[in-house]
Amino acid sequence: MAKLLVTGGAGFIGANFVHHWLRTYPGERVVVLDALTYAGNLANLEAAKGRSELRFEPGDIRDTALVERLLREELIDTIVHFAAESHVDRSIHGPDAFIETNVQGTHSMLKAARTVWLKERTVSSHRFHHVSTDEVYGSLGPDDPAFTEQTRYAPNSPYSASKAASDHLVRAYHHTYGLNTTISNCSNNYGPFHFPEKLIPLMIVNLLHGRALPIYGDGRNVRDWLHVSDHCRGIERVLQRGKPGEVYNIGGGAESENLTLVRTLCAVADAAFRERTDLAARFPAAPAARGEPSASLIHFVQDRPGHDRRYAIDCTKAERELGYQAEVTLAQGLRETFTWYLDHEWWWRAVMDGSYQRWIDTHYR
Ligand code: NAD
Ligand code: DAU
Repeated sequence: MAKLLVTGGAGFIGANFVHHWLRTYPGERVVVLDALTYAGNLANLEAAKGRSELRFEPGDIRDTALVERLLREELIDTIVHFAAESHVDRSIHGPDAFIETNVQGTHSMLKAARTVWLKERTVSSHRFHHVSTDEVYGSLGPDDPAFTEQTRYAPNSPYSASKAASDHLVRAYHHTYGLNTTISNCSNNYGPFHFPEKLIPLMIVNLLHGRALPIYGDGRNVRDWLHVSDHCRGIERVLQRGKPGEVYNIGGGAESENLTLVRTLCAVADAAFRERTDLAARFPAAPAARGEPSASLIHFVQDRPGHDRRYAIDCTKAERELGYQAEVTLAQGLRETFTWYLDHEWWWRAVMDGSYQRWIDTHYR
């Protein structure tokens, strides 16, 4: 039985992973360490409240002594490291937090793991799994082959540069000290608990309120969309079958231009308003409440500085070596995600406490 320390487990992917693990391995200990920044929310773990396997520890990954204490106290043998500053736009306006959390924070986690696992030998086997991003590989042209694990690192934003630096530190701790590490680099996740500053949840919340849907630049940038449940299963496979020191790409095999994606989401919303009679009363400002197309809200805005044009993931290695396969199609995932936001209005209203909206207003409106 594994004993997990999940950093960033109150964030979007971390919380989905905690729920996945508790469902799949009831009885296994899961300790969540999370600083509850603007992106972390205990509401994301509400459904697991009261589970005796779960311990929530508020705290910062840069607090090496705290991490060491948790590793010793709980005899943790597996770290799944999600905690990070994750939003590219924020990294453009304020890079410091990204260096502090993503680089120094990851280094703090590695130092604690080295002390407790390699020097004190509290457990007989261990694994440090680092969750990273396809953005470390840079930007692709329209006909370039998808990113493989051999693609040269070429990060373009302060966010992706900080993640690249953290990947290199993880690699170095494996090669230099023999820490048992794995890294996964994945594409754009979407699904439940996605904070409404990222493209898909922002568009959902805006269209329900009849607000403009801001498309950066010409809207032709391409992302490879990965349902968060597929990502969680991918990480599970890496933990179980991944080899020490190895890197695995995890993708959804669902490339889409942003404009196409947003138009699809608008069509999903329009269909939902036609089918569910309660929606017009709940969201009277939505164009769909008047039988008008949600896509009428699409609005082109100034491009993101240094905006990467295209990401695409080749996950042949994960398929071959881990038996990983994405299961959720983009069409199905978008429908389910839209429905989740309709059914969890309390959640997104609670996380959008005003500070987020002020930040958006200052920088983008
Ligand atoms: P998120 O922003 O939703 O959540 C990050 C979590 O980390 C929050 O709960 C936050 O409170 C916590 N955190 C931040 N700083 C901390 C600190 N110093 N100490 C402790 N906790 C701290 O992020 P996410 O989208 O869930 O991403 C999780 C990980 O996956 C990140 O490492 C990110 O780089 C990576 N990733 C995300 C995506 C994506 O599409 N969202 C894709 C590829 C990789
Ligand atoms: O590729 C993996 C990465 O995906 C992760 O490492 C990041 O943590 C995650 O935030 C995500 O980064 P992106 O920058 O790709 O995601 P975002 O949702 O911010 O934007 C997706 C695309 O949509 C991107 O091309 C920018 C565009 N966009 C975004 C927003 C928020 C818009 O056109 N309008 C918007 O309002």
